[in-house]
Amino acid sequence: MKIGAIQFEPLFGEVDRNLELAGSLIMKSDADLLVLPELFNTGYVFTSREEAISLSEQIPQGRTTQMLCDVAKEKGIFIVGGLVEKDGDRIFNSAVLVSPDGYVGRYRKVHLFFEEKLWFDPGDEGFSVYDTGVCKVGIMICFDWFFPESMRALSLMGADIICHPANLVMPFCQDAMRTRCLENHVFAITTNRVGTESREGKSLHFTGGSQITGPDGRVLFRAGEDSEETGTAEIDPMAARDKKINEYNDLFRDRRTNLYGALLKGRNF
Ligand code: ACM
Repeated sequence: MKIGAIQFEPLFGEVDRNLELAGSLIMKSDADLLVLPELFNTGYVFTSREEAISLSEQIPQGRTTQMLCDVAKEKGIFIVGGLVEKDGDRIFNSAVLVSPDGYVGRYRKVHLFFEEKLWFDPGDEGFSVYDTGVCKVGIMICFDWFFPESMRALSLMGADIICHPANLVMPFCQDAMRTRCLENHVFAITTNRVGTESREGKSLHFTGGSQITGPDGRVLFRAGEDSEETGTAEIDPMAARDKKINEYNDLFRDRRTNLYGALLKGRNF
């Protein structure tokens, strides 16, 4: 199958324009599974929780999820993309997975970054893996990569491909993803955005470099730091299923879970 990352520059608050651009980029791609950036429909630099609420949408009824469902159906593909989710009086930094048959599932960002803690509620549903029929897909969002537990949990749940919408502002993720993929023997599609958002005296520059990483830690595609581009890689998702390193070692069977107690507790020093 062919997997792809759509790196582009959303403009803050211009939901019509961002959806139209994302839709046209999806229509031009020949990938079977595409990942859009985190918050691709709204932009990232919010100035208040009220502003984030005003741009939030219900999943799956909202227009962004419905637009993704429409293009996924038309193209016969799977798409993952990020948006602000409204659920009653709570809002989440979420991502959805849609298929040719419609909405499949969502993920609510567990590890909120920086001022996201002021705008969003922390994800309350943990991690999920979705079976597309061809492969098993796990979702995490941007800063989740900083916590190895995110990809470990998804991989232990059987994910072959980690879909990773991002709005990265630091330069470390791409190199780290090589290790994350190697230590879990999974594929990952990290889709970052490009551009700078300046709002009410705050400015963030997004670092591009979207990356598709293989289970052996190899970089299968790396985008430029400023360019709007769609990158793809032809992969066999089944390559992620065999966790053997050699005839004596297996990544998951060799885990000594009875000796890892500290991992399940909070900081204890
Ligand atoms: C991030 O989590 N958007 C850095």
